[in-house]
Amino acid sequence: MEEEQKPKQVTCYLLFSLGTAVIGSLQFGYNTGVINAPEQRLRAFFNNTWVERYGEPIKAGTCTIVWSLAVAIFSVGGMIGSFSVGVMANKFGRRKSMFIVNILAVIGGALMGLCTLCSSFEMVIAGRLVIGLFCGLFTGLTPMYVGEVSPTPLRGAFGTLHQLGVVVGILIAQIFGLEVLLGSDLLWPVLLSLTVVPAVLQCLLLPFCPESPRYLLINLNKEEEARKALVRLRGVEDVSKDLQEMKEESAKMAAEKKVTIAELFRSQSYRQPLLIAVMLQLSQQLSGINAVFYYSTGIFESAGVTKPIVATIGAGAVNTVFTVVSLFLVERAGRRTLHLIGLGGMAVSALLMTIALLLKHIPSLSYLSIGAVFAFVALFELGPGPIPWFIVAELFSQGPRPAAMAVAGLSNWTANFLVGISFPKLEELCGPYVFIIFMGFLILFFIFTYFRVPETKGRTFDEIARSFSRAPPPTDPSGEAPPPEDDSASPVKEKVPLM
Ligand code: GLC
Repeated sequence: MEEEQKPKQVTCYLLFSLGTAVIGSLQFGYNTGVINAPEQRLRAFFNNTWVERYGEPIKAGTCTIVWSLAVAIFSVGGMIGSFSVGVMANKFGRRKSMFIVNILAVIGGALMGLCTLCSSFEMVIAGRLVIGLFCGLFTGLTPMYVGEVSPTPLRGAFGTLHQLGVVVGILIAQIFGLEVLLGSDLLWPVLLSLTVVPAVLQCLLLPFCPESPRYLLINLNKEEEARKALVRLRGVEDVSKDLQEMKEESAKMAAEKKVTIAELFRSQSYRQPLLIAVMLQLSQQLSGINAVFYYSTGIFESAGVTKPIVATIGAGAVNTVFTVVSLFLVERAGRRTLHLIGLGGMAVSALLMTIALLLKHIPSLSYLSIGAVFAFVALFELGPGPIPWFIVAELFSQGPRPAAMAVAGLSNWTANFLVGISFPKLEELCGPYVFIIFMGFLILFFIFTYFRVPETKGRTFDEIARSFSRAPPPTDPSGEAPPPEDDSASPVKEKVPLM
């Protein structure tokens, strides 16, 4: 019976549903990358509006404040949005939440797109805040939905799709931001408002997707509906195994349904997975990845690269290619191994970047800086990029999952914000040594991952949750953490072909 079921686990309908959800990830990436290219156009627009209103040009300092606000308020929106995800996902369900949240993209996109017509720079700032809220919600909703509809043996590979959406979004924004396309004096508002198009598309497709069967069964107790959704998703009539697994999870957490954020912090049994979830999010952001994505053109310039914009788009392309590599490796190599390789490799690349910046007077070494940045980005996508986003959904069962996603998302966005606003200042203070700071963080997170992060590959949500509730206290007398769980105990070890 198993032999019959396996190949059908990946159906067109499952891929369609995943693809629809991942439009949200694409939006997050697009809005992360879109603001870089039109910086000078936006500054000019702020000045023009100022002249119109007050009859004098804007002061350089004020212009920089308005500009930084427009950039940074996105992450503030992200923090609020990611933190609200638990409440929304439980109240409206996963699918309806995604649908509703798209209204924010339409409002945000309209505010930014119409700012020149209304001569209002406040609309750009308000638009970025709303878009940040929207993206923050999607950084929780997409990984949650994807984790919940995917078959266990492919949860990691499909979990990586969120990050693939993000990187493709960044790349699209980098390309559309070119002056010959939408980065021109006239078209930059269109560039910023383009986010409305995928929002409308997703709203058209979502009604054809199923609600998460786990939400239907565990949260709403609608077994028949959950069964129907599973039959369509898996392409087989007999979905009793999936249903049984959900029921077991549901029975175990009957007493703890809908865990609130306060309960998540209070309960001893969530402490370990919560620490791991938050540390993995921090490892992603404090690796310095967004220092590269927000400021790579400047980094390349200071390393003596002659065409920094081309190198930046190159970094976007490497980013995309390696996310695909990770997608194919994650179910073979496992999350823990890939995360460790990524963090270790990024630390070495950060050292190489420092050497390249220190020796920039040697012309041939500008290639070293390009190579080091590309390696940094590639290794990021192997593990630290995709894994933290989906592993949170794996570390928690249905009850605490939304609250955990909220806390993890908030940690991620806060660290993202801190790196974004402090990097220019840090660069000023540390000069070519700035990446040594990230190297330090990378080494610390490597050590943490080595000792504390278990392998979750191929294990059901319930098995993972159980491994934490029976885990010994974090530090035993020898001062060592318990060894990572051996996944050979996993009942689900078969490899399922991807397509
Ligand atoms: C991850 C990060 C995001 C970053 C992106 C780069 O999704 O969360 O902040 O910009 O990777 O690929």
